[in-house]
Amino acid sequence: MKLVVNGKSIEVAVPADTPLLWVLREEAGLTGTKFGCGKALCGACTVHVDGKPKRSCVTAVGDIGDQPITTIEGLSTAAALHPVQQAWIEENVPQCGYCQSGQIMSAVVLLRAKPKPTDAEIDDAMSANLCRCGTYPRIRKAVHRAAELMSGAPAAPATPPAAPPAPKPAAAPAPTTGGKP
Ligand code: FES
Ligand code: FES
Repeated sequence: MKLVVNGKSIEVAVPADTPLLWVLREEAGLTGTKFGCGKALCGACTVHVDGKPKRSCVTAVGDIGDQPITTIEGLSTAAALHPVQQAWIEENVPQCGYCQSGQIMSAVVLLRAKPKPTDAEIDDAMSANLCRCGTYPRIRKAVHRAAELMSGAPAAPATPPAAPPAPKPAAAPAPTTGGKP
């Protein structure tokens, strides 16, 4: 069957009831989308199907037809990150990172519907995406930051790498006494 993933058409030979997540990871090599619970409970596997969030662990490929699929890999272009990805970096959101592609995919859908969400709207929209590391306060900040970026605020400059520490001067050799006390 044919699927359209991140703007490209791919041909996959799998049974129609194969979960989309399996096809994305195993057939298309798009491993940014993660397996968490396999039961539509955690949100780690969230992708967009025809612009709407879908739990790819419980979405059969045979039900997708020609609806376009977008994964985390398809959000950015070669030239630029998606503003939500940029905001996630600026706010240093991830801890272990496992849930974060699903979080970002959900945040993109939220911001399309509500370009300036309140804290309560963010919490409500993101509550089905679980994070075992408890990054929820940073997720909320990053969604606000993404809203700013999407309304035209400049991105923060990349942090330059820290300068290496200056070498310590070599210790002066201890004076010799020539054997005298
Ligand atoms: S892996 Fe799909 S919702 Fe948890
Ligand atoms: S960052 Fe570790 S599970 Fe969310």
